[in-house]
Amino acid sequence: MIRAFIFDLDGVLTDTSEFHYLAWKRLAEEEGIPFTREDNEALRGVSRHDSLRRLLKGRTLPPEQFEEWAERKNRYYLELIAQITPQNLLPGALEFLQALQKAGLKRAIASSSKNARWVVERLNLLPWVDVLVDGTMVERSKPAPDLFLKAAELLGEQPYVCVVVEDAEAGIEAARAAGMRVIGLGPRERVGKADLVIPRLDALGLDEILRHLEHDS
Ligand code: BG6
Ligand code: MG
Repeated sequence: MIRAFIFDLDGVLTDTSEFHYLAWKRLAEEEGIPFTREDNEALRGVSRHDSLRRLLKGRTLPPEQFEEWAERKNRYYLELIAQITPQNLLPGALEFLQALQKAGLKRAIASSSKNARWVVERLNLLPWVDVLVDGTMVERSKPAPDLFLKAAELLGEQPYVCVVVEDAEAGIEAARAAGMRVIGLGPRERVGKADLVIPRLDALGLDEILRHLEHDS
């Protein structure tokens, strides 16, 4: 039985990955570090500190400098997302949340981002979810299962009745580690380990999605 859906935010409900890319790129250019769009793809779903570690490719920084770089990237990111409105929702996102509510299924957002609450407010999504879990609420980020387990706990549901919707490899790993079913959004090379792969949220209706997932379980 499926009783709840837990959504990742960046890349699932809204597309902030371009803004993350531009913010990391600005920092990388200032510091003379090569950084491409392809490098950015590997940062999907990965926390701010882990992203910086990957950007540094094995090089280490004194802790204070590491913090300053992470904060600087976040300042650039916040400048870029200041203008977010409900227009920045991905196609089908709001309709999917509404269909779930109509079907009596619970809804949560679980994001590695420490800016998630602010983004969700700007998108006007708070009225459509029961629970919001963000990067400030758990120690370990994705691919650890903590964000999803916290969401299930706050929803009052067991992991095995929850379905995660993710666009990142790290997120799919996290959902599996939590013992949840998972829908992957995007190309198979990235999300192929999900139980069901669809290109975007408006690609299949809720009934069809539930049939696929319940049939395979
Ligand atoms: C995830 C993004 O949702 O949040 C990552 O996919 C990002 O790219 C991570 O690094 C952390 O975000 P923030 O806003 O806390 O820096
Ligand atoms: Mg994501």
